[in-house]
Amino acid sequence: MAKVQFGSKIGLIAATVGSAVGLGNIWRFPAEAQANGGGAFLIVYLACVLLIGIPVMLGEFAIGREGATDAVGDYQRLSPGKKWWLIGGIGILASYLINMFYIVVAGWTLEYLFGSVTGDLFAGISETQSSGVHFANKMQEYIQYDFGPLIFSYVVIILNIVILLKGVKKGIERMSNLMMPVLFILLLIFCYVSVTLPGASKGIEFFLTPDFSKITPSVIINALGQAFFSLSLGMGVLITYAAYYPKKTKLIGTATTVSLLDMLVSVLMGLIIFPSIASFDLMDNSYKGLTLVFVTLPEIFQQMPATQFWSVLFFLLLFVAALTSTISIGEVTVRFCQDRMKLSRVKSVLLVFIPLFIFSSLCSLSQGSLSDVKIFGLTIFDFLDTFATNILLPIGSLLMCIYLGWFAPKGLLVKQLTNNNSVAVRLSKVIIFIIRWIAPIAIAMILLSQFVKF
Ligand code: TRP
Repeated sequence: MAKVQFGSKIGLIAATVGSAVGLGNIWRFPAEAQANGGGAFLIVYLACVLLIGIPVMLGEFAIGREGATDAVGDYQRLSPGKKWWLIGGIGILASYLINMFYIVVAGWTLEYLFGSVTGDLFAGISETQSSGVHFANKMQEYIQYDFGPLIFSYVVIILNIVILLKGVKKGIERMSNLMMPVLFILLLIFCYVSVTLPGASKGIEFFLTPDFSKITPSVIINALGQAFFSLSLGMGVLITYAAYYPKKTKLIGTATTVSLLDMLVSVLMGLIIFPSIASFDLMDNSYKGLTLVFVTLPEIFQQMPATQFWSVLFFLLLFVAALTSTISIGEVTVRFCQDRMKLSRVKSVLLVFIPLFIFSSLCSLSQGSLSDVKIFGLTIFDFLDTFATNILLPIGSLLMCIYLGWFAPKGLLVKQLTNNNSVAVRLSKVIIFIIRWIAPIAIAMILLSQFVKF
């Protein structure tokens, strides 16, 4: 296998941030924060990222750069003849399941982009109807009426096929370099607009003031699940990307930068959503989950001059953020088919994505015609999200920590953290301690509490 590498340090960070920053930050984070008590969720989430997320990310980097192939192959190479490769297998399964619904949401963002460009999203707002009702109706149209969302999710699949066929690095690396900074600037602008709205302070308070009595086991599991999802952990994405890291890349610096930037996007998103729903007096109940991004944000745009311009820009960037993430998810399975099953790039990409036309359709329809089909009381879409995010990702990471902390070849982690002893790393003892003890125990306890609940 020819060894491909990212071209530059910035490009590598941008591509990894491109994987991390996505719908998880912009769509999922505010919804989770709202459902789990605002400030209480934020503080648990931050703790999860710093204490568990960054070390687990480093673990994935170390395995990936050392193994230098796909998520399953890395384990086989590092510990031949053992069953550890099954961890990589869980990751590959999780990545496939996540892709099924992630593609659908990416399709919605594209549909919103389209609606913003044509003006359809804002067309026909009447005097008699509040703008909230208008955008709620639009959301129904865009998400639940079978045909539109199906078509747009197919477009996303086709874009994935095209980009992955071309080879990711040049396209993705370049696109990420350009788009990520613009995304940050835009978020800052929206954030400014939102926090200066009249009556915004109630929302800021909800998001930033932790009410410790609201920290329950389910808040913790949701925060941890969100941290894994947002940092792209637990399913071999970062293992796969780290195989493309040059030898001299400093892993700790990279993991910290990526995680902090990812966290920043989520926090900014919270500061955009909550002040504005407070200002519009929508804090109570009806505006939650999906509607935050797809109803509330358009309402803010409507308050701003040059409505359509901002809306186009926002949904374009949201779409790009989603696309860089789907690409990273797809790359896991594609790389697996290429390296393990020895298929060509073209065959691998097709084998991975053609079935997704069907699976993603089911997810998409579960918002509309198939909304009565329930698995454990959840729609297909919600079931995949909950099962993959709250169960498979933590299990994958737990096993990876156990492997790396206790069973991997001696010195692997230190060697990777210090670039073969060429850089001094004072923190490596702490990181090893977290990977051996803290992270597995925390993840295990949280998983257990999840099972006890059932
Ligand atoms: N992290 C991305 C987001 O926040 C989604 C994502 C990309 C992901 N790759 C992943 C989630 C791997 C879990 C595992 O939107």
